[in-house]
Amino acid sequence: MAINITEDKRAEIRHRADIVEIISERIVLKKAGKDFVGLCPFHSEKTPSFTVSPGKQIYHCFGCGAGGDVFSFMMKYDGVGFSEAVSEIARRYGIDLPTRSMTPQQKKNISEKQLLFDINHQVMNYYRTQLADRLIGETAREYLQQRGFNRKVIDEFELGFAPEGWDKLIHFIRKSNIPLSIAEKTGLIIPKENKGYYDRFRNRIIFPILDEKRRVIGFGGRVLDDSKPKYLNSPESPIYHKGHSLYGVHASKDRCRETETVFIVEGYFDLISLHQHGFTNSVATLGTALTVEHVRLLKRGFARKAYLVFDSDAAGVKAAHRSIPIFMDESVSAAVVVLPKGYDPDSYLHKMGAKAFQEATDHALGMIDFLIESAVLQYGLTIEGKLRILSEISDPLSRISDSVTRSIYIRHVADRINVEEAAVAEKIRSVVSRIRQVKHHQDNRAQNPPKTESISRSCSSPTTSDDLRLEKQIVSMMLKYPKILPQVEKSGAMNYFQDKDLKNLGQMIFTRTSHDENEFSDLMNQLEDDVLRQLLASLAISDECWDQKSCENLLFQFIQSQKRKRQPLISRIKAAEESNDQELLLQLLKEKQEQAVTR
Ligand code: UTP
Ligand code: MN
Repeated sequence: MAINITEDKRAEIRHRADIVEIISERIVLKKAGKDFVGLCPFHSEKTPSFTVSPGKQIYHCFGCGAGGDVFSFMMKYDGVGFSEAVSEIARRYGIDLPTRSMTPQQKKNISEKQLLFDINHQVMNYYRTQLADRLIGETAREYLQQRGFNRKVIDEFELGFAPEGWDKLIHFIRKSNIPLSIAEKTGLIIPKENKGYYDRFRNRIIFPILDEKRRVIGFGGRVLDDSKPKYLNSPESPIYHKGHSLYGVHASKDRCRETETVFIVEGYFDLISLHQHGFTNSVATLGTALTVEHVRLLKRGFARKAYLVFDSDAAGVKAAHRSIPIFMDESVSAAVVVLPKGYDPDSYLHKMGAKAFQEATDHALGMIDFLIESAVLQYGLTIEGKLRILSEISDPLSRISDSVTRSIYIRHVADRINVEEAAVAEKIRSVVSRIRQVKHHQDNRAQNPPKTESISRSCSSPTTSDDLRLEKQIVSMMLKYPKILPQVEKSGAMNYFQDKDLKNLGQMIFTRTSHDENEFSDLMNQLEDDVLRQLLASLAISDECWDQKSCENLLFQFIQSQKRKRQPLISRIKAAEESNDQELLLQLLKEKQEQAVTR
């Protein structure tokens, strides 16, 4: 990738940016010693192994090996290219970038998304002024008032109104000198069959959808009466993906982090109602089922426990059923708030008030209990019913990875439906072993992905894990104890290196101009390969302390073992015999036998 932002500029951005700040905006970090730790956003885990070092300005996950600097984090997490990551961070810290130095394509990519955000922002304000307009917005304001929404939440959620007519927004867009062909990409206007465009949202209350950075990514619009379709929504666009987005995150993030819990509802008004009644740690899905991306988003940046508050009708129960396996697989605890028949969260709050809602959440059922109770309700406790309950509950039970927890639930189910515990356990066991087999297969594939360069490189080379460990330690030592560099060079240790990546890194370290043991930005800057950046981060973040003596020992040990290896087998066997090292002797004889076979 061509990088056209000057070294100086990059260095400036890196110095001003704070990796802890940038990462904390996306995932929950807790202080641990001089570092910060959190749940890794790049793989699924229950205990935090994702480490961010403020001193070194790098991150590293001890679980999956992901790592790098603030730019590579941004690239990986936000799924953007290098230039976009740099400009995003520059913008965040108010650093001007010379846009001239970017290629036209880079400029286009960055500016197109930014342009769409800008258009959406202007349009949001346009809809707001329409809602505020004495005449145009009157019926919409009355509608909101009659549904019980106050000024404060209307403002906080920046609700608006799209007036009647086919081209009101088009006029506004023209007047604002926004090209219609670009506005079309937001989905706010729709091309007609022959020529021209028409407004998507007409005579509807407008709900702007903001992401956690308060960028306007899309809109929803509700009719003011019972006509159909009740809601229209922005289509998917370069900046809007409803399977990854949750309504209300901008207003709920802080409270979610404080309470470590989040309420999840399904409707725009449900969400606003919750906020108005003080449950500000709430988000809503956007007309789609909850996805694993949603749950990961919540897990990373928001909360450890979710309350699902869906409608009490069949569709709501079904939605809860569909969501539960996702929470289980992501190890996020969830509970289902069951509202009395006929209510959705909004109508319940407005009719019964915050206290009643709080009581309902206090009685929320854990995921498994919810599944049991709804199965009991559906199938009854006849013999036939019990069998169906068991077969319905066995898959979710088998997803509980902790065996103690699982056995507690097995007893619980057995008690609840009055069946022998052993019978339930047997049923679950068969499902568990089936799932294990599938999972094992998947894990193997994940650990040996067919096309990861560095992995295939080290697999094909004859490097043993011992060698690799020593090579890693040497590079780490070179980073952390630069005084040893002349000796490393003199010893020729690098010539023995088998791992190409480590060798490259080592050679780069020799050519460094500064050797601040806490500053790796010059190296990060030179690395364009993500695999190498990860490697560098993992070596730099390790906590070993080096002194002259330990460095020399390591070097000596490495060189000796390499020299030994390079001796002909026969003389090594002799040496082992002489020193009476039975274990080594056995190993060498085995090696010799193998050689004989392969020859
Ligand atoms: P609901 O039908 O439950 O509506 O849809 P609601 O949110 O309770 O709205 P009110 O209270 O009747 O005004 C829940 C969510 O499903 C999506 C919307 O996101 C809505 O908030 N939806 C629903 C659509 O996208 N299109 C529709 O036609 C209906
Ligand atoms: Mn409703």
